[in-house]
Amino acid sequence: MKTKVLMVCLGNICRSPLAEGILASKVDGNMILVDSAGTAGYHIGNPPDPRSVAVARKHGIDISQQRCRKFSSSDFEDFDFIYAMDDSNYNNIVALARNESDRNKVQLLMKMADNGLSEVPDPYYGGEDGFEQVFDMIELACTPIAQNLNQHGRG
Ligand code: 4NP
Repeated sequence: MKTKVLMVCLGNICRSPLAEGILASKVDGNMILVDSAGTAGYHIGNPPDPRSVAVARKHGIDISQQRCRKFSSSDFEDFDFIYAMDDSNYNNIVALARNESDRNKVQLLMKMADNGLSEVPDPYYGGEDGFEQVFDMIELACTPIAQNLNQHGRG
């Protein structure tokens, strides 16, 4: 059975689609499934923000086929690791946890990067630069996650 990893932000159109695409590009898809979701339902069914699609494409990653969905408590059953982009996402996810085992699956993505930051900032209301910075931050965190997953099947 595949190890399943879920990336979660607020809208599931800017940060978590990038996180899904970046991590998926670094792991063996036969062993690891990567998905993403948002804690809010503003954009359900929509493709990622064009600025996220563009920055991913610049780095050789195609996220254009992803479609937005909302995080649900059933995701705790389906996924082994749930990475939140910021504190607010983390709190919203944990609020839906039904038990300790659910809670233990949730981590802040940036805890996996060794750069002293704990949150991936929301780039939605900013310029293109913000999307580049967000890409770099997510990539920094996804590198050790992918290494762990590829070596041990653990995030
Ligand atoms: P994301 O960014 O959480 O990284 O997908 C946002 C996208 C949309 C909105 C907020 C944040 N929004 O308010 O519509």
